[in-house]
Amino acid sequence: MSEFRVTVCAADELEREEVLALYRSVGWSAYTESPEVLLRALAGSHRLVSARREGELVGLARSISDGATIVYLQDVLVHPDEQRRGVGRQLLDELFAGYAGVRQRVLVTDEEDRQRAFYESLGFVEVHDHAPPLRSFVRFA
Ligand SMILES: CC(C)(COP(=O)(O)OP(=O)(O)OC[C@H]1O[C@@H](n2cnc3c(N)ncnc32)[C@H](O)[C@@H]1OP(=O)(O)O)[C@@H](O)C(=O)NCCC(=O)NCCS
Repeated sequence: MSEFRVTVCAADELEREEVLALYRSVGWSAYTESPEVLLRALAGSHRLVSARREGELVGLARSISDGATIVYLQDVLVHPDEQRRGVGRQLLDELFAGYAGVRQRVLVTDEEDRQRAFYESLGFVEVHDHAPPLRSFVRFA
């Protein structure tokens, strides 16, 4: 099988239909039901990283950040046919390579064991397991 290629990219290098197909493939309908909002979100992201195999978009990660003290991982997604091949890990390695001096890396995700396993494999700790203790709050509109 050919190698996949992970690179930093600009939002305008991504085709609308390939982005929608990727988000659909993982069932993220909150995004795909509002394509214009998704495209605005990609354009407004601080750093975007794509994974392609033979030119085809198979994964994407994006961050929100001040570039100095904090970075929020907003999305990381890999097409189901390409999962467990190291694409997600490589996407986040490349994404966070842009934040070498940034101390705080934060994300919010669903409560699924596979996501916990993925983030723990990358050194993340769930907030309630952190020492010293921390609290996090979220409010969805
Ligand atoms: C979460 C996700 C991005 C992981 O991407 P991936 O390319 O499959 O992950 P990797 O192959 O790089 O896995 C790295 C490590 O994470 C852990 N891991 C990943 N998926 C796992 C799973 N389903 N079950 C258990 N551990 C898992 C493993 O330790 C794995 O290393 P290994 O394969 O050598 O054992 C992918 O499953 C996905 O896109 N899911 C749907 C969207 C989503 O939930 N995104 C995250 C929320 S923002």
